[in-house]
Formats: sequence, structure tokens, C-alpha cells
Amino acid sequence: MIVLVTGGAGYIGSHTCVELINAGHTPIVIDNLRNSNPKSLERVKDITGQAVTFYEGDVRDEALLEKIFDAHEIDCAIHFAGLKAVGESCAIPLEYYQNNLCSTMTLCKVMAQRGVKRIIFSSSATVYSAENEMPLRESSKTGNCTNPYGWTKYMGEQILRDIAKADPEWSVVLLRYFNPVGAHESGKIGEHPNGIPNNLMPYISQTAIGKREKLSVFGNDYATHDGTGVRDYIHVVDLARGHVAAMDYLCSHKGEGVFNLGTGTGYSVLDMVKAFETANGVKVPFVIAPRRPGDLDTCYADPAKSAQILHWQATHDQNDMCRDSWNWQSQNPNGYDD
Ligand code: NAD
Ligand code: WQD
Repeated sequence: MIVLVTGGAGYIGSHTCVELINAGHTPIVIDNLRNSNPKSLERVKDITGQAVTFYEGDVRDEALLEKIFDAHEIDCAIHFAGLKAVGESCAIPLEYYQNNLCSTMTLCKVMAQRGVKRIIFSSSATVYSAENEMPLRESSKTGNCTNPYGWTKYMGEQILRDIAKADPEWSVVLLRYFNPVGAHESGKIGEHPNGIPNNLMPYISQTAIGKREKLSVFGNDYATHDGTGVRDYIHVVDLARGHVAAMDYLCSHKGEGVFNLGTGTGYSVLDMVKAFETANGVKVPFVIAPRRPGDLDTCYADPAKSAQILHWQATHDQNDMCRDSWNWQSQNPNGYDD
């Protein structure tokens, strides 16, 4: 199938391009490079042997989308494009709502005009309400988001749900990712955040390589086995394969489907630090710091619905996540700028 991949030069998008190609599909990427480097797509070619057609531009540019739909017989879209930094979304909320919601609406408008009514949307575990019990199921309560980024995902889901309700020809799959980490095993593609990383795994690997002095562990008085926050880390290659699995579902079902992409296992911050040190034979100096505002003690998925209906489950373990994060980091200390 020919798949329009918005945000395909980014972290999860580039890994998904590899898995799409491995499964015999053809990705067509649109990305404005706001948070990515086009070298990621050259590396996708190095890994797969197949060049990716790339349009540099904004998903909110309706004329550009029309041009892409004219040039290719697109079968479906995977919509990754969006801004994703929680802290930044509190500082520039309007930009987040503008970018994340208008891109979704423009894309759907052009898709509907062209009769291409199949879309997979990058949602997030952040749409779940804090008051839920663990593990989180797709039926768990959503809303009460703690930041504008989370609301853009919540609202994005609602827009797509309403589109599918109004027009029975649409197939919409909402994928709620937990904590994506790791990199392709080749070490050629991975995540390179701009500036100081917000997320745990890039902070650990940048500390291990000496770019950061030490990791601050945000809180050791949570109600968890060692007092540090517990999350459901998922290898990005498993996550990418979840999209390929969701495409089969997309093409055989109408209406809306929502699925968790997680492993179902939670690890604490200190579990991840120790696993990283053991997997890679490196030291990760850390200090205990105050809790980060807005953090939960524990968050992990029930991935049973994805296993049962998408026939997908994660196959990479914690050791694989740590090994592949380090492989990418150590081969590319400055990301794609090297
Ligand atoms: P990323 O920043 O690496 O990728 C997003 C890509 O979208 C970037 O290449 C960026 O340049 C592009 N982009 C942003 N706005 C655009 C626009 N208007 N037009 C064209 N391109 C645009 O992030 P990622 O980690 O790969 O995340 C992909 C998607 O998954 C995002 O929607 C994100 O919110 C969602 N998500 C990510 C995580 C995570 O922890 N990484 C967790 C849950 C959900
Ligand atoms: C994980 C754990 C921190 C950094 C975020 C978004 C979420 C989703 C994924 C997009 C927590 C601790 C972290 C550090 C630390 N993204 N930590 N020191 O907060 O679970 O989820 O990314 O949708 O929406 O909120 O991920 O990697 O930031 O934190 O101790 O320097 O690591 O407190 O317990 P989080 P994270």
C-alpha cells in the first residue's frame, strides 16, 4: 500500500518508514523539519535499500497536500506530525493547538475530498485521566489533561472520532503510545532531542556519554517499589511494527478503533538506570532531585486488546531498549549533525 506518513522524518516516523518498507509498503513522507533532520530518511534508505519520497512542508498547507494526493495513489495516512514537548506546550499553548489540531483537520479535509478515508493517529497515554487504576485499558477514563500538549491529543482523538461517526466510510485508528525509547538496531536512526532532553532515556544516554554531568531522578518518595516513578517503556521498533499491524485492521474495519501500544510492564527510573549500566557497561551518575510537577507515580498499559485484535505485541525487552539507545547515542553523539 502507498502510505502518507506525516512527520515521517521524526523519531517514531522514521522507524515506522523502515517497518513499512520491510512489510512491502511504500511510505510517502511530508515533514516541515521543525523537529527533525532529512538525513533520517537517507538513513532509512541505507537500512532498507529503498529511497523514500519526501515532501518538505507543513501538513497545514492544503495546496501541498492536494499536490501530494494528485501525484500518488495514496491508500491511507499515518499522522505523526505534531509538536510533543509537554513543558513547551505550557509556554506556547496557542502554537501547540494551532499546529497539532489544524494539521489534523487539514489532512482529514483533503483526504475526504480525495476519498482516502483511512487514518492512523499518534495518540498518547497522556490522554488518560490521572485518577485511573493501573493498568490502563482503552476503556479507562480520559480527560483532565495536565498540559496543552495532552489536550491536543485528547481533542485530536475527538475530532477523528466525530469524523468516523458522521461518515461510515471512514476508518480511524487511534494508537495510544506509552513511553517510546530505543532505536533501530543498526544505530543509524534514533532520537536526538534539541537542547536538554525532557525524557528519561535520552537524558540517561547523554549522561553516559558525558554530555550531561548527572541525571536528576525526579523524586524517590513515590508509592513504587523503590520510590521512583514507574513507566511502561516500549522499544520504538515494536511501536513502529504496531503501526504496520494497525494498517491491516484499518483496511478491514470501518469506524473507530483505539489501542494501547505498550508492553504492560512498568520499570522505575532506577530500574532503567541500572539496566542501562548493565546492558552497556557504562556508568550513569545520578542525584535524587525533587519531584517534577505533574508527574504520576505509576503509568503502564494493559496491551491485551492490541494483542487480541491487532495481533501485535512487543518483542523487545528492557535490555534491548537500553542496548539500542546506547548504540545510537554512541555512534551519533550529536544525532544527525555528526
Ligand atoms: P518527532 O518530533 O521526532 O516527530 C514529529 C515530526 O513531525 C517531526 O519530524 C516534525 O518536524 C514534524 N512536524 C511537526 N509539526 C508539523 C507540521 N505542522 N507539518 C509537518 N511536519 C510537522 O516526535 P515523535 O516522538 O516521533 O512523535 C511522533 C508523534 O507521536 C507525535 O504526534 C507525538 O505527539 C506522538 N507521541 C510521541 C510520544 C513520544 O514520547 N515520543 C509519545 C506519545 C505520542
Ligand atoms: C519518565 C520517568 C520522570 C527525566 C512523557 C510525556 C508523555 C509522552 C511520553 C508524548 C518519570 C523520570 C525523567 C529526568 C527523571 N509523550 N525522569 N529524570 O513523563 O512519563 O511521559 O513522554 O506523548 O506525554 O509526558 O516520560 O521520559 O519524561 O519521564 O527522573 O531527567 O522518568 O519523573 O518518572 P513521561 P519521561
